[in-house]
Amino acid sequence: MKIAVLKETKPFEERVSCTPEISKKLISLGLKVGIESEAGSAASYSDSDYKSQGVEVSKSQKGFLDKADVIFAVRRPETKIAKLFKKNSILICQMEPYQNQEEIKEFAKLGINSFALENVPRITRAQAMDVLSSQSNLSGYRAVIEASQIYGRAFPMMMTAAGTIPPARVLIMGAGVAGLQAVATAKRLGAIVSATDVRPAAKEQVESLGGKFVAVEDEEFREAETAGGYAKQMSKEYQKKQSKLISDTIKDQDIVITTALIPGKPAPKLVSKEMITSMKPGSVVIDLAAVSGGNCELTKPDKIIKNNNVSIVGYTNIPSRLAGDASRLFARNIFSFFENIWDKENSKLNINQEDEIVKGSLLTYNGKLI
Ligand code: NAI
Repeated sequence: MKIAVLKETKPFEERVSCTPEISKKLISLGLKVGIESEAGSAASYSDSDYKSQGVEVSKSQKGFLDKADVIFAVRRPETKIAKLFKKNSILICQMEPYQNQEEIKEFAKLGINSFALENVPRITRAQAMDVLSSQSNLSGYRAVIEASQIYGRAFPMMMTAAGTIPPARVLIMGAGVAGLQAVATAKRLGAIVSATDVRPAAKEQVESLGGKFVAVEDEEFREAETAGGYAKQMSKEYQKKQSKLISDTIKDQDIVITTALIPGKPAPKLVSKEMITSMKPGSVVIDLAAVSGGNCELTKPDKIIKNNNVSIVGYTNIPSRLAGDASRLFARNIFSFFENIWDKENSKLNINQEDEIVKGSLLTYNGKLI
């Protein structure tokens, strides 16, 4: 059984789906592991790091990808690359299931059996496979670091002989995995932090990290969490009340980090042009929802724009800006996922379609879109 690790080709993608550490673990299970040359170099894992663990490094895709039974990637590969895969091979990656469904159908037609890691259910048994959590956690941290570099002032209050520097005020919108890590990071840097969310569970979590919780806490708010722990799309009336509260809060903020997402839907628009205009010159907005259309009306994907001297950052792939650690966690997630479909005793794949994790993540199988 042979696993091939792809070199990522999407713009701004520096991660790799398998590290030397995880290659060694796969080899110890009796598998052969191969990687495209330089697949890990942007994440600081060199070809020789892989070779020293017994990995075959291939300079060409032909004669390499067509021999693999299982393919690992971070993102869904381009169709022209998928055409090189063996029929009935297994692809494990973030398939971006809500984007470009025509392309996904093409994968089914090619006979590629694919698993979408972002669809792994968030059950206790699957926590070690949860790429959304591992990557969001790093995004939340990095968003604060990005903001600190653009913001032309300090985060903590400083009392010096030349006078006092006031602390930065940071507002985090959406207190899920990324948002809570952003609260913790901004707090550690000495800012005054507040956060908002539509799920009541977020209140205690924000407060336990030392942040102030700001939200419209009405009847709808009390029922805004789905059984899966995600936010619901809020009513027009709620959005109006929320918008008023945000308008009042945002004008006193120096940094705003938005992370609000609703699975499978465009990101809710929470920050309007008027709100940006009300902010102080030099303020910074980091829109982590840029990949899903952005929480801020003015966000431009992968651009930093300025409006009224407020910088709005729309990076669509923040985890890739910490490629070494993001790859380390991603590779551990993919390994845990693989272990679940690998029958160790008989050294063969076991795709049990009754298994909740397989059921949730199987996207294309036996020529069909699942
Ligand atoms: P996400 O990435 O889908 O959304 C980020 C945040 O935006 C969420 O907290 C959501 O409530 C919030 N949001 C959505 N619409 C909003 C709006 N209009 N205004 C303000 N905020 C809005 O969510 P993420 O980070 O993936 O986590 C969602 C939940 O799942 C959290 O409770 C988290 O603790 C839980 N979770 C559970 C796991 C497990 O049990 N294994 C693993 C990871 C997360």
